[in-house]
Amino acid sequence: MMEEVAEIGKQQKNLVFAVNGQRFELSDSDVHLSTTLLEFLRSQTPFKSVKLGCGEGGCGACVVLLSKYDPVLDKVEDFTVSSCLTLLCSVNGCSITTAEGIGNSKDGFHPIQKRFAGFHASQCGFCTPGMCVSLFSALVNAEKKTNRPEPRPGFSKLTVSEAEKAISGNLCRCTGYRPIADVCKSFATDVDMEDLGFNSFWRKGETDQEKLSKLPLYNPNNNNARSRFPEFLNNKNKTGANLMSCQGHHWYSPASLEQLQRLLMQDQHGANYNGQTSVKIIVGNTGMGYYKELERYDKYIDLKYIPQLSIIRKDQTGVEIGAAVTISKAIEALKEENVVGFQFHQESKTVSGKIAAHMEKIASTFVRNSGSVGGNLMMAQRKNFPSDIATILLPVGTLMNIMTGQKLEKLSLEDFLERPPLDYRSVLLSIKIPCWESRQDISSENDTTNKLLFETYRAAPRPLGNALPYLNAAFLAEVCTDSEGVRLNKCQLAFGVYGTKRPIRAKKVEEFLIGKCLSVDVLYEATKLLGTIVTPEEGTSHPAYRKSLAIGFLFQFLSPLIYSPAEISGICVNSIMLKDSKIEPNCDQSGEIQLPTLLTSGKQVIQSSKEYHPVGEPITKAGATLQASGEAVYVDDIPSPRNCLHGAFIYSTEPLARVKGIKFKPNSSTVGVTALMTAKDIPGENLGSKSIFGEEPLYADEIAQCAGDRIAFVVADTQRNADLAANLAVVDYDKENLKPPILSVEEAVERCSFFELPPSLYPVQLGDFSKGMTAADHQIMSAQVQLGSQYYFYMETQTALAVPDEDNCMVVYSSNQFPEFAQDTIAKCLGVPGHNVRVISRRLGGGFGGKAIKAIPVATACAVAAHKLQRPVRIYMNRKTDMIMAGGRHPMKITYSVGFKSNGKITALKVDVLIDAGIYQDLSLVISSQILGTLKKYDWGALFFDVKVCKTNLPSRSAMRGPGDLQGSFIAEAIIEHVASALSVEVDSVRNINLHTYNTLNFFFQSSAGEPLEYTLPIIWDKLANSSRFYQRMEMLKEFNRCNIWWKRGISRVPIVHEVALRPAPGKVSILRDGSIVVEVGGIEIGQGLWTKVQQMTAYTLSLVKCGGAEELYEKVRVVQADTLSLIQGGLTAGSTTSQNNCEAVRLCCNVLVERLNSLKEKLLEQMESVEWETLIFQAYLNSVNLSATSYFVPDVSSTHYLNYGVAVEVNLVTGETTTLQTDILYDCGQSINPAVDLGQIEGGYVQGIGFFMLEEYPTNSDGLIIANGTWTYKIPTVDTIPKQFNVEILNNGHHKKRLLSSKGKFIIISSGEPPLLLAVSVHCATRAAIKEAKRQLLSWSGRQNESDSTFQLEVPAIMPVVKEHCGLHCVESFLQWTMARK
Ligand SMILES: Cc1cc2nc3c(=O)[nH]c(=O)nc-3n(C[C@H](O)[C@H](O)[C@H](O)COP(=O)(O)OP(=O)(O)OC[C@H]3O[C@@H](n4cnc5c(N)ncnc54)[C@H](O)[C@@H]3O)c2cc1C
Ligand code: FES
Ligand code: FES
Repeated sequence: MMEEVAEIGKQQKNLVFAVNGQRFELSDSDVHLSTTLLEFLRSQTPFKSVKLGCGEGGCGACVVLLSKYDPVLDKVEDFTVSSCLTLLCSVNGCSITTAEGIGNSKDGFHPIQKRFAGFHASQCGFCTPGMCVSLFSALVNAEKKTNRPEPRPGFSKLTVSEAEKAISGNLCRCTGYRPIADVCKSFATDVDMEDLGFNSFWRKGETDQEKLSKLPLYNPNNNNARSRFPEFLNNKNKTGANLMSCQGHHWYSPASLEQLQRLLMQDQHGANYNGQTSVKIIVGNTGMGYYKELERYDKYIDLKYIPQLSIIRKDQTGVEIGAAVTISKAIEALKEENVVGFQFHQESKTVSGKIAAHMEKIASTFVRNSGSVGGNLMMAQRKNFPSDIATILLPVGTLMNIMTGQKLEKLSLEDFLERPPLDYRSVLLSIKIPCWESRQDISSENDTTNKLLFETYRAAPRPLGNALPYLNAAFLAEVCTDSEGVRLNKCQLAFGVYGTKRPIRAKKVEEFLIGKCLSVDVLYEATKLLGTIVTPEEGTSHPAYRKSLAIGFLFQFLSPLIYSPAEISGICVNSIMLKDSKIEPNCDQSGEIQLPTLLTSGKQVIQSSKEYHPVGEPITKAGATLQASGEAVYVDDIPSPRNCLHGAFIYSTEPLARVKGIKFKPNSSTVGVTALMTAKDIPGENLGSKSIFGEEPLYADEIAQCAGDRIAFVVADTQRNADLAANLAVVDYDKENLKPPILSVEEAVERCSFFELPPSLYPVQLGDFSKGMTAADHQIMSAQVQLGSQYYFYMETQTALAVPDEDNCMVVYSSNQFPEFAQDTIAKCLGVPGHNVRVISRRLGGGFGGKAIKAIPVATACAVAAHKLQRPVRIYMNRKTDMIMAGGRHPMKITYSVGFKSNGKITALKVDVLIDAGIYQDLSLVISSQILGTLKKYDWGALFFDVKVCKTNLPSRSAMRGPGDLQGSFIAEAIIEHVASALSVEVDSVRNINLHTYNTLNFFFQSSAGEPLEYTLPIIWDKLANSSRFYQRMEMLKEFNRCNIWWKRGISRVPIVHEVALRPAPGKVSILRDGSIVVEVGGIEIGQGLWTKVQQMTAYTLSLVKCGGAEELYEKVRVVQADTLSLIQGGLTAGSTTSQNNCEAVRLCCNVLVERLNSLKEKLLEQMESVEWETLIFQAYLNSVNLSATSYFVPDVSSTHYLNYGVAVEVNLVTGETTTLQTDILYDCGQSINPAVDLGQIEGGYVQGIGFFMLEEYPTNSDGLIIANGTWTYKIPTVDTIPKQFNVEILNNGHHKKRLLSSKGKFIIISSGEPPLLLAVSVHCATRAAIKEAKRQLLSWSGRQNESDSTFQLEVPAIMPVVKEHCGLHCVESFLQWTMARK
């Protein structure tokens, strides 16, 4: 035995692999066995394009392409994996391609990267490298499909549908995905060029040929095949098997079952076995994404190189799949139609096809590419993982081959799942899905009617996967038709993930159904019975919803057999529910599931202007290609200075408790820990951040004020060790003599716990409320609405790097929207003057307000630790801690009373808002005025508005994109909806009648209302009705709802009026000796295109010297990072107006320079015919002209602008799933500096709004500790949840005369960063309209057709369980009862 192990030991001991063609060879001492590929790439190579977004397989920011030689097939395979879960030791012999390897600034960018830039598909850019790699992999693999015809020149073999799906597992928080989907589609051979959205390559009206000629050319042969799998890997390391040992830890890659057995036995009987050896068997290691094990194992055994575990064998008896086969490969095999030597029966093919189709919804491509079938099932067996595979394989009689020691065993999947958790010595070898043709055991008189039905189901927030389901199910039945109808001869029903430890077979229901002829009564009884079986365990969320899903899916499976037996001509019939006119069978004749294209279409209409060239033009975002290649440098990409340490926060898990001490868990090894920083280590003030309203401490001094409050900062040699140590910290709390915490606004009111509002914000009375109420025909009194929080979900979490400098100075690189206040806070904390602290912010991987105040303590903590330890200290916060400490958007409770006439005209409104600000003021005191700003979008007659800002023991809320505006807009719509419901009239008519006239607008908005001509809302309100065919679609929708029972549609059209407040901003423009121009602004590039706009404005204004064109000048401008010592008073980058303010500041600087240069130019022209820019500047240097100008723009106007949009939504009554079918946005943008950038802001903001209204739950436990703390539980929109048809039109409205750039006026554009977010309220309104229809139908089934149930409040977010609850958790049962009663 020992010899065998020694034999494994003879395997190659060094790790050899390639990254972007570069050879890496690592020995035992170079690498810890638990090192992930991501950690290695980011810390030990120059390739920083792999970003850490989540560390759990849920975001795609870290995706790389792995190329691997397959000795059996003698070919190289290329597939994506998430580098955050892939262990470095498992890439032996592989080649890794990152975004830099696809293309870069030195070797040339790949067309993918160029198209990302040209389609304006990269904003903050943090997700972009991962997106590029995902698309690259799809292209590489499409080109390998030899069964496909050669594509048109310039295109790939990829289809449009595949192209869109290529990035379905990648998250982007900025763009709203539409432009990214366009980039993907632009490579697809079947793309209609007309379908490709707005881009900088071609202009409207050009022919397809012209368009194609302008797209960066794609040549499949240039996909870097050589560097993808370099020669030196071809010759060596073909097996990839290796043995590594590091500090007593071992990595084995056994090459046979015998070797594996011996390795496992060695632990049992071997000399070194002491009962303590920890062993981890791995394949893809993706299980780490869920379990986030922190343990380091003594022994890692990689199963990938054991041939028996990698087999896929198909024969007449079924399909055998080795346990180490990846889910992707299993899908491929199950979909494969032709097997040499024999033909599967059609029914077996269908079973396989449907299993494969379901598997395609597990996680994402890059997880399925490395995650194995066996790993998934073992997680289900050992740890009750909510597996899809276990459920869908249950009803088809799957067999499991396991090996325990030397014992081999075959057992059913059911027995396998029922066993107590297998210990680590039990290895799953393979599974076998039997062939269904051979199982035809039905004895029927008329066996020609025997049919096998098989279907799988899952209800999850994302239709294409990347989300665990609320419930999954798989049903198999054999039916025959006799004179009485359809009889069930066999029936196997499996349900899982509903709050059960393992998937179950609903045997009582099966027994009840078998032998019965299906009827409505039988189905009803079956659903009743099922309700007693599917009972979620205590503590499961939405238990009633999950149960209703089980019933719904059973109904969906069986009902076609009752309602249209004649249609049972094949197995596809399961897809047809009743005779719903909408529903087409979603399978083609071969039975293959045809998934619809994700995004059918999108139209973007913009009006660019040449008048102030290049201002007003849709110029590509500066640095977009660098972002796409991953060369753009974010804070965490800055190489660590020598001796750099890493920090991690220890936060409170108690809402209000005295901190007595912090220890580390006994017997835990806190490797690499250097220091534990607490309030006592702060040399100056204990100050974590400050805003204009107040301050908050860096660390809880004695008492932790909320769950998530910062208690300490642990500093260690690596980020992983710091995070591990923070996790191992045990805080000793004491609550004696402390009052109970305040955890709700109601408790805050009870205990008068408020932050005081500045008098200017409190309260507001417009008109006479009492008089308005008296004039009303109807009144609604004290109705309530509640809104929850939302997490920023910037792709780059909070990060900073502090480097001590001479003479007590500190340089801090911070991902920060408010460096000015960070500088001030750090200085106070360190007890040094402000000029000792330099805060530098170059670009952020998303901010959305979350890196304004909230980034300050992160930077400060690093600075304090760096100061104390006199070593550089950095942090890249892990997603969980970030989510727990973030605070997010302000939750609030709203109470309103409204009076209105019978025609819907509102005469008076009173709104009381309780804002949950959390424990510190942060920016919470501005929220009330923001709410009021958007609430005033309608003419309420008279308005009384009161707000209380509640202080609670919850993390302080900060401003999040559209702070208060979003809620104000929602409140207004909720009231309008309520009034319409009370009057039983169309909501649209109530909106219409309450739109402002110019007079009422003037009354509500006073000076910011602008001139009468500028009030464009009524015009665009009507324009939208025409352009989106609003009224026709309303009629069509009524017809749709009449014809369809299980799908209902709603439509809504909603206006937005948005006030814009400008803020002062500094700028500095300097022209260097060679004519190049460097610009500094106070604003930070957070993805909003600030730098591009600033560059445009600089080029335009300097072009007024008329020495060189603006285009030429544009190329000479470089906008550089914000540096608090170089440019002071930088202020806050937020509120949508930063670009505007900064452009204005830059314009002022340029004006000064133009004046200085003009006089010189005049002089020069006396001597020469024309003056070139370079000559002018050189002469300016010689003549000592000051070529640097600074300015400080102080605004004197505020403005209001108008938006409008309509949305249609479809709701599935069985699952509560909503689909946004069409969105039409008309955006009056005033005068856009860059309509392409603004378009991106509009679409991205809108999709973030969909997240708030429809998807993103940010719940806490009873102590206020956030429990949705990762990508598994917090679901931001993905490419499959955006509108199917997404039309945006930006109006560059000529009515805003006085705001256009002119010699006397200022250039005031309309902001696009935040208002579009508000537009998404319309999705919520349309969903409500669809639910109203569902409720009407439900009432009609109980004979109450004349009643209506329309005054309900639809919660935010309207997630699937919420929608379903409103549509009727028992709607299936009600329908069946109604049908039975009609017989
Ligand atoms: C982001 C994300 C989303 C996901 N979504 C879904 C989903 O929607 N539905 C779903 O069903 N699954 C989902 N999964 C789970 C995924 O399918 C599994 O993580 C994957 O299949 C595990 O395979 P692996 O090879 O990576 O296992 P590993 O992580 O390598 O191993 C997992 C566990 O199984 C053990 N093990 C592995 N193979 C064997 C074997 N042959 N014998 C004995 N023990 C073994 C390991 O010791 C380990 O304990 C998701 C995973 C991720 C990361
Ligand atoms: S960081 Fe790896 S998937 Fe998110
Ligand atoms: S551009 Fe995608 S996350 Fe910012």
